[in-house]
Amino acid sequence: MFPTQVTLVEVGPRDGLQNEALPVPAVHKIELVHRLQAAGLKEIEVTSFVSPKWVPQMADNAAVLAGIRRAPGVRYSVLTPNLKGLEGALGGDGEAAADPLSARRPDEVVVFAAASEAFSRKNINCSIAESVQRFQPVVEAAHAAGLKVRSAISCALGCPYQGEVTADEVEHVVRLMKSIGVDHCGVADTIGVGTPRAVRAAMERALKHYPLVEVSGHFHDTYGQALANIYACLEMGVHTFDASVAGLGGCPYAKGATGNVATEDVLFMLQGMGIATGVDLDRLVDAGAFICGVLGRAPTSRAGKALLARRGVAVEAPA
Ligand code: HMG
Ligand code: MG
Repeated sequence: MFPTQVTLVEVGPRDGLQNEALPVPAVHKIELVHRLQAAGLKEIEVTSFVSPKWVPQMADNAAVLAGIRRAPGVRYSVLTPNLKGLEGALGGDGEAAADPLSARRPDEVVVFAAASEAFSRKNINCSIAESVQRFQPVVEAAHAAGLKVRSAISCALGCPYQGEVTADEVEHVVRLMKSIGVDHCGVADTIGVGTPRAVRAAMERALKHYPLVEVSGHFHDTYGQALANIYACLEMGVHTFDASVAGLGGCPYAKGATGNVATEDVLFMLQGMGIATGVDLDRLVDAGAFICGVLGRAPTSRAGKALLARRGVAVEAPA
């Protein structure tokens, strides 16, 4: 039985833009968020409070978060890998932290850990258990500030170093995230190698520890499997998926790396299946065309490209 409604979590402004080599001005990132919320998206990951030395593109995080004109009913999330990130997300000076209605506060923060021990060691030089333990104070402080905490379990379907990642390994991190009080479990296929059976097995493990409403899929589309994987999740009743408008994402330094599944493509499939999202496809395509105009390239969304071609509209350039 398929769900009748799906929540799309738009991660384009964060996951999509974080690897762009040339700086994207904050004003365009803010405009992108405005267009996404105008299209009906109710969950938007707007930026990340990470080290600007590692991810220079997200260095304008505070300006982006503060510049968004909040729309009612929209939840705004940001990535916070440590306490420094959480403090930044809460305004640094404590002013926004003290005011739950502050426009500068996110509604939700995201922490991430790998399901692959090899990836954890190579990437952040510590074990998975140690990496999750480091999030404990972030989770506690986020909860104390009234924020929900979402997790992303990276490399849940495959790892660039160790190759295959088992469902047992996924469950190990799910358990750890649960043990430190993380509210939501996102199963992430960072390198896009997952296929439906493996995705199903990983999701089953997440669902052993979290209810359906707190489990989501985050599929990069590197090998073109993301829609099939989302379909497999829908069959299980999973009804929350991350996606990136215009298929934004990928690393300019890693050949072949691609972004998350394009939001337009997921929406096109869901509409065809009669599953409600509250998102307007035409306005979403406009948002994708806008940011692609800023970046000076065509969208990688298949549905987005097809709809733009049908309209005979060229990619929109920034004002
Ligand atoms: P660290 O342990 O402090 O060590 O940060 P470091 O050496 O990496 O950091 C050194 C400098 O960064 C220091 O500054 C820190 O103060 C500063 P310095 O003293 O040299 O001037 N710093 C920070 N500055 C601002 N905000 C912060 C922050 N933290 C440290 N929050 C850390 C470790 C992980 C924070 C750092 O390495 C980092 O920010 N890395 C980038 C991680 C990242 O953004 N990755 C991409 C996002 S995750 C993702 O895309 C996966 C996902 O989409 C799911 C999937 O697809 O799998 C979610
Ligand atoms: Mg990702």
